[in-house]
Amino acid sequence: MSESSIESILQETRLFPPSAEFSQNAQIKSLEDYQALYDRAQADPQKFWADLAQQLHWFQTWDTVLDWSNPPFAKWFVNGKTNLSYNCLDRHLTPDRRDKPAIVWEGEPGDSITLTYAQLHVEVCKFANVLKQMGVQKGDRVALYMPMIPEAAIAMLACARIGAPHTVIFGGFSAEALRDRLIDCQVKVVITADGGWRKDAIVPLKEQVDKALADDRVPVEKVLVAKRTGQEIVMQRDRDFWWHDLKETVSADCPAEPMDSEDMLFILYTSGSTGKPKGVVHTTGGYNLYVHMTTKWIFDLQETDVFWCTADVGWITGHSYVVYGPLSNGATSVMYEGAPRASNPGCFWDVIEKHKVSIFYTAPTAIRAFIKMGDQHPNDRDLSSLRLLGTVGEPINPEAWMWYHKVIGGEKCPIVDTWWQTETGGIMITALPGAIPTKPGSATLPFPGILADVVDLDGNSVGVNEGGYLAVRYPWPGMMRTVFGDPDRFRRTYWQHIPVKDGQYTYFAGDGARRDEDGYFWVMGRVDDVINVAGHRLGTMEVESALVSHPAVAEAAVVGKPDEIKGQDIVAFVTLEGTYQPSDELAKELKKHVVLEIGAIARPGEIRFADALPKTRSGKIMRRLLRDLASGNAISGDTSTLEDRSVLEKLREG
Ligand code: WTA
Repeated sequence: MSESSIESILQETRLFPPSAEFSQNAQIKSLEDYQALYDRAQADPQKFWADLAQQLHWFQTWDTVLDWSNPPFAKWFVNGKTNLSYNCLDRHLTPDRRDKPAIVWEGEPGDSITLTYAQLHVEVCKFANVLKQMGVQKGDRVALYMPMIPEAAIAMLACARIGAPHTVIFGGFSAEALRDRLIDCQVKVVITADGGWRKDAIVPLKEQVDKALADDRVPVEKVLVAKRTGQEIVMQRDRDFWWHDLKETVSADCPAEPMDSEDMLFILYTSGSTGKPKGVVHTTGGYNLYVHMTTKWIFDLQETDVFWCTADVGWITGHSYVVYGPLSNGATSVMYEGAPRASNPGCFWDVIEKHKVSIFYTAPTAIRAFIKMGDQHPNDRDLSSLRLLGTVGEPINPEAWMWYHKVIGGEKCPIVDTWWQTETGGIMITALPGAIPTKPGSATLPFPGILADVVDLDGNSVGVNEGGYLAVRYPWPGMMRTVFGDPDRFRRTYWQHIPVKDGQYTYFAGDGARRDEDGYFWVMGRVDDVINVAGHRLGTMEVESALVSHPAVAEAAVVGKPDEIKGQDIVAFVTLEGTYQPSDELAKELKKHVVLEIGAIARPGEIRFADALPKTRSGKIMRRLLRDLASGNAISGDTSTLEDRSVLEKLREG
């Protein structure tokens, strides 16, 4: 074992309690307070959530807190009527909050905009009226394909205001990926921008939308375009409209539509181990409550905080912790268009200094990239406004945790390592910063009300420090409700891996984990065919389908290999059709092809040509072997089921 890994194991046993000062002022002040909340929630989860739901505005209160009579399909706050946009805006139009910054936006080129709650309310009401004018009605799906500009948040809130479920499609996805989602979701209106700034270049968003809409199967009727980059674009008559033009003629009066608690709020596509990405469905009341409470307690929100979550709104983290969670709490949320890049390696620290960010939430992959860029960048800036740090997206290695703690947090900021998923709606396992001492690399303990466990495939809890599957034993308000258009896939993917026992359903997260002697969770990563590249989830199947859609490729198998910065990188093993020969050019072309089919986030780091892929006698590709090969490890485990052992030898040589 190398010295550095021995050191990290030693660090893992270290405990970092919050300072007395932090705890004193925190929402949840001690381990005892956390335990009391947890116990109360466990004893009567429905009463626990119902009490908390009083913090939101309801047009009409609910009859039943949880209807779990048809598992795994949950209903929360049955017959309650509420509106997320009302809870994020109208509620805060009080004398002390209306002029408080709601969104502080920083563009990549250095331009910035602040919208107070009163101003954001006006913008959202106007745009909601624009949507209505474009024929959008309650229940119609609206897609966003946008850069990180205030209009993205405004559009989401406007959709929520009139009850049109949104589906945000990350601006880095290709026209093909966009098209597939527009079709699957039967989208009526697309909201986009001329372009967005990404690493000093323009991402031509509108052009991609035009490409996607060229396919007759796309049912989109109207395209609304925000002006950001100002380059020439083509506007199609009667289909495409400028946001700023439409805004001129509408009223700023648009009362929030009372929505049923279980009305669909949004669909967000995410990768799984099989098939095409699935549309994860979240609904109104439960999601609102869950992001409200998790933001409040985990980020310990105080009235003067400036909260910055660096995620793009194209991901669930952007939905829950850039837009809905912070705004539901009346907090100031920072939105940043840019990304760390060679030309400006200190850009994140500039944003913190300029806007006096007090709570900073980012991903381990970003932290590892910053470590590489050098300490001088953060050291040159004034980061003294920070009081709390967070991470999300993948396990954080203790070395990166320690760097974050020392160099960014100045050894005074607690770090909340938050485990959750698109499916869970909000954070599930995390420290509450004033209450729970942290250990580098552990997400620590479940949020009150979350009955998390580590189990074997029979559903039995495993012992202390034994590896198993991360699972949740009781519904929670933020849970996904179904897969859009495919309820059976929802049941199969999440609720059937662990058998139903005595009518008890257990949610299967797809992650491996263990629990230590203090009950702390250590999440070890995916146990299915999902790869986590720089915090982005990709299904191996998706990348494989993209590869085999290229005429040269006969067969493809994709696996992850460890990567210092991205956590994991994609390695694709490829066999070729008869007349094609392996070459560097072809490898390049195949990488480009994947980018075209899915987007740059799916670009394979390495293409390995092979004569054949290792398969079982029943024809299943043995990915386990490929994973070992890709990582440069010795082949582990049983190879007796291999159909042809010479395949493995050849791959080793190659
Ligand atoms: C991984 C992102 C370890 C995990 C919010 C999960 C993590 C997947 C952590 C969900 C963490 C997320 N520690 N692993 N703190 N947070 N993951 O849907 O594998 O994009 O299943 O949601 O990311 O990714 P998703």
